[in-house]
Amino acid sequence: MRVVEVRQPGGPEALVLAERPVPAPGDDEVLIQVAAAGLNRADILQRRGHYPSPPGAPPNPGLEAAGSVVGVGRNVSEFSIGDKVCALLQGGGYSGYCAVNAAQVLPIPGTLSPIEAASLPETYFTVWSNLYEFGALQRGETLLVHGGSSGIGISAIQLARALGSTVFTTVGSDDKARFCEQLGAQRAINYKTQDFVAEIAALTDKQGVNVVLDMVGGSYVARNLQVLATEGRLVMIATQGGAKGEIDVLRIMQQRLKVTGSTLRTRDAVFKRQIKEKLLAHVWPLLVDGTIKPVIDKVFPLNDAAAAHAYMESSAHKGKIILEMV
Ligand SMILES: NC(=O)c1ccc[n+]([C@@H]2O[C@H](COP(=O)([O-])OP(=O)(O)OC[C@H]3O[C@@H](n4cnc5c(N)ncnc54)[C@H](OP(=O)(O)O)[C@@H]3O)[C@@H](O)[C@H]2O)c1
Repeated sequence: MRVVEVRQPGGPEALVLAERPVPAPGDDEVLIQVAAAGLNRADILQRRGHYPSPPGAPPNPGLEAAGSVVGVGRNVSEFSIGDKVCALLQGGGYSGYCAVNAAQVLPIPGTLSPIEAASLPETYFTVWSNLYEFGALQRGETLLVHGGSSGIGISAIQLARALGSTVFTTVGSDDKARFCEQLGAQRAINYKTQDFVAEIAALTDKQGVNVVLDMVGGSYVARNLQVLATEGRLVMIATQGGAKGEIDVLRIMQQRLKVTGSTLRTRDAVFKRQIKEKLLAHVWPLLVDGTIKPVIDKVFPLNDAAAAHAYMESSAHKGKIILEMV
């Protein structure tokens, strides 16, 4: 099969096409013939040598894919040859085929194409677990999502809005702000020209928001605590602005705040199956009826993976970037 690998950690040119044997599915796995694979910011970290695949996972990048089941392990009863599926992967999505634990495989929702379906697993597993499990976001509560036009952002805005929250978001341009407001954000704040702490205070009558989903860290940590309402929750999923931040302990005590965070990739299949069941119950029906939609910015052929990475690093995209196995 064709795969895209990282020859030597570095820039986009480090991604090279290679031929590798098709993997055999393990007892708990299905083998998927990949039609499309989603790009994620973590793939860039992996390409630069900072985020290797966990032990036992395919070494090449790719955290999500969609396609057809072409093999099933002997313990797998929930899928059959020919099923159209998408899957959360620990690596190896940039490949013609991938073998993955059935706990991480879901049917393609409704009539979505494989390209659309490949854009879903990584963001919805992440958004569900961080907003609704760790962040305990409730209907009627308010949410601030940083990076609203990111893959994570477009999923968080749509899902939280569909499940009854008012959503605010930060973005790096006015064009992205308009895009996020069309997607369902009540207000998108351009973090390059506006102070999100002051804006959230004005938008919430100084009450603050119940949950912040943060992918920046660094100097945002202290400011995130400032925008939280009493008993608010800060959920951190990335450190694009640095891994160290300042915490006002007194504010946590006085406002009874909770600070948490997580990484998805290394969690075990038991955890991932729990999240998959929640997605099938609460999110897949919203994708089937069109309440929430995949947002695909651009599709690249597999052999243009380097161009796809360069495009993601330019931050010009709004929504997801996809590799197609053509
Ligand atoms: N912990 C986990 O399990 C987990 C899982 C999945 C993803 N993630 C993380 O979530 C983030 C988004 O992933 P993705 O694949 O959706 O990436 P992406 O589409 O490339 O998005 C990155 C986003 O970060 C935003 N951003 C950067 N600096 C910012 C700042 N100072 N203020 C507000 N926004 C800022 C960018 O906004 P502008 O371009 O507008 O500046 C962009 O929208 C990544 O950092 C990724 O590592 C974590």
